[in-house]
Amino acid sequence: MKVMVTGGAGFVGSHTVVELIAAGHYVQVVENFCNSERWIVERIERITGVPLALDELDIRDRDALRASMERFRPDAVIHFAALKSVSESTQLPASYYDVNVGGTATLLDVMQEFDCNRIVFSSSATVYGQPEACPVAESAAVGPATPYGRTKLVGEWLIRDCVAAPGASLGAAILRYFNPVGAHPSGLIGELPRGVPNNLAPYITQTAAGQRDYIRVFGDDYATPDGTGVRDYVHVVDLAKAHVAALDALASSDQRELTLNLGTGRGYSVLELIETFSSVVGRPIPYERQGRRAGDIGECWADPSRANAVLGWRAEKTLLEICEDAWRWQQASALPHD
Ligand code: UFG
Repeated sequence: MKVMVTGGAGFVGSHTVVELIAAGHYVQVVENFCNSERWIVERIERITGVPLALDELDIRDRDALRASMERFRPDAVIHFAALKSVSESTQLPASYYDVNVGGTATLLDVMQEFDCNRIVFSSSATVYGQPEACPVAESAAVGPATPYGRTKLVGEWLIRDCVAAPGASLGAAILRYFNPVGAHPSGLIGELPRGVPNNLAPYITQTAAGQRDYIRVFGDDYATPDGTGVRDYVHVVDLAKAHVAALDALASSDQRELTLNLGTGRGYSVLELIETFSSVVGRPIPYERQGRRAGDIGECWADPSRANAVLGWRAEKTLLEICEDAWRWQQASALPHD
């Protein structure tokens, strides 16, 4: 299949491109590199041994997107291109809606023009906001607590409305990721946070590498076994494989709209993650307990049984593999980039 991947040099995007190529698909990456690096494209080529078609453009640029689709004529689009910082979204809500919702609307319009009728959408468990109970199933109430989360939910609505439009032939898989972590086992691609990481896993690896003094553990009075926040950490390579499976499912089933949780079905606490990283690094990683971070929830982990039933997918990599791969990437990413 010919697959256009928007945001194909980003964290989940780059790993998905690798898995798509491994599965025999033809890929065209569409990127504006606003939060990714050009050398990631070369790294993908090194892993796959295949030259990568790349169009540098912003998905809001309708004419550029049209020209790209005209050239490549994709059978499907996997849509990652988006802004993704929860904290930044509270400061720049209009930009987040512009890129995440406006960009998705432009993409859907142009897809229709070129009879491209399959989309896999990068959504997030953040659409659930504060879940009433764990594990969280797709039927749980949605209610995102941040502008970022709301742009993802509006993106979902937009896509479902396009699927349901009279005469439409669009099929969509909406994938709600829990906490994406880890890196490619080659150590060649991984997450590239800009500035001080907001997320726990890159903060831990940067602390282990000596770039930060200590980890701040936000809150130890949650109703969880050790009092720290519990999340469903899912390896990015497992996530990437789910996108390939979602494409296959859209191509082979009559179902035109799939909304699926992507998580492991198991939660780990902040302290468990720090401990596992420490065992991989071979020394304790310093941390300090602090008050709760505003807006955080105590626990959030997935019921991934629908993805298992519909895609035949389940997350296979362990927490230890997540930490090993993230640590290998942390060490390698400090080296010169080609
Ligand atoms: N945490 C710390 N110290 C840190 C960073 C985080 O203790 O320096 C804790 C948090 O309090 C939380 C856990 O680690 O308990 C995970 O926090 P992250 O910031 O890594 O992830 P979140 O669950 O807050 O959010 C992530 C993504 C969002 C996404 C959401 C989906 O950042 O984009 O998962 O559930 F929407």
